[in-house]
Amino acid sequence: MKIKTSNLKSAILAIFLLSLFQNTLAGNIAGSAHDFSVLGWSGGEICVACHTPHAADTTVSAPLWNHTVTATNFTMYTSPTLDATSTGQPGGTSRLCLSCHDGTVAIDSFGGAVGGTLMTGRVAVGTGGNLGDDHPISITYDSALAALDGSLLDPSVATATVGLAGGKTKTGTIAAVLLTAGTVQCSSCHDVHNTFTVGAPLLKITTAGSQLCFTCHDK
Ligand code: HEC
Ligand code: HEC
Ligand code: HEC
Ligand code: HEC
Repeated sequence: MKIKTSNLKSAILAIFLLSLFQNTLAGNIAGSAHDFSVLGWSGGEICVACHTPHAADTTVSAPLWNHTVTATNFTMYTSPTLDATSTGQPGGTSRLCLSCHDGTVAIDSFGGAVGGTLMTGRVAVGTGGNLGDDHPISITYDSALAALDGSLLDPSVATATVGLAGGKTKTGTIAAVLLTAGTVQCSSCHDVHNTFTVGAPLLKITTAGSQLCFTCHDK
């Protein structure tokens, strides 16, 4: 009897601890993959590798940008059935992501300093300048493309909800909550700040039952 009671107690404790852990997975940048404050070179700061309050890089279209921007010339996705026309090189916010995720610029290269920690492995999405094997980004996704394709939802009409129910969520048209200036970018599926996510890897909508994909693709 005694053993059973303590088992029950530890089960309740485990569920409680798990719920605490879940909360750290979504809703905040602290504790996420982009919380660099635990790394020595960050000086204990979270935002500084990407943003600065002063002397920001004004050559890129980005909010107060502090990180060295990649100069890589990328191979973009193409296929015989793709209807969208690529806007050329990664634009919008994607080039900012690739400034760490293509593995050519060190994660700790910011504020004019040159770091030494390069990204490798599966997280280095644009390694070798190759985005040809990745979901298309920096493409215009509008009502005209939806009509042309026939199996894409109209981004100015169809709605999406991002974030975790019970946590921080946002609902709006696909254009409002998933696109940047009418284009698909890394930030269409990921939230760099982990604010409106359902959990790792910083996903705005769950992949359970492929909900993320069905949000735009009417298959
Ligand atoms: C890993 C890089 C990275 C880190 C760390 C980061 N940001 Fe950002 N931030 C971005 C990028 C990229 C954008 C561009 C737009 C987007 O994707 O939201 C952005 C956009 C913003 C914006 C404007 C758009 C918005 O979401 O309101 C604000 C404000 C902002 N960041 C504040 C912060 C603060 C405050 C911190 C630290 C607590 C922080 N960021 C940490 C990369 C980062
Ligand atoms: C300052 C460098 C930097 C920038 C800029 C940056 N990231 Fe990251 N990102 C990282 C690091 C470091 C990791 C952790 C890699 C690892 O696990 O080895 C990471 C991890 C991730 C992960 C995996 C998260 C997980 O939970 O496993 C995703 C997704 C991601 N980043 C997307 C983005 C997107 C989208 C942008 C742009 C909007 C971006 N990153 C900009 C450095 C950066
Ligand atoms: C159409 C949605 C979509 C777009 C656009 C997208 N991703 Fe992802 N990404 C995902 C999904 C879903 C996963 C998790 C499944 C997987 O790993 O393949 C993921 C995984 C990742 C991971 C973690 C890889 C790992 O194995 O740990 C990183 C890092 C990442 N993405 C970065 C990026 C960057 C950088 C861009 C832009 C160049 C981008 N993503 C564009 C949907 C997307
Ligand atoms: C933000 C909206 C959005 C999300 C989310 C999204 N896609 Fe896409 N996807 C697009 C658009 C727009 C295109 C371009 C389609 C075209 O022009 O033919 C595209 C293209 C594709 C293509 C290439 C089509 C071709 O003809 O070459 C595939 C495959 C694909 N998506 C699969 C996925 C999968 C799988 C997921 C979920 C992991 C996903 N998409 C999530 C918007 C999205």
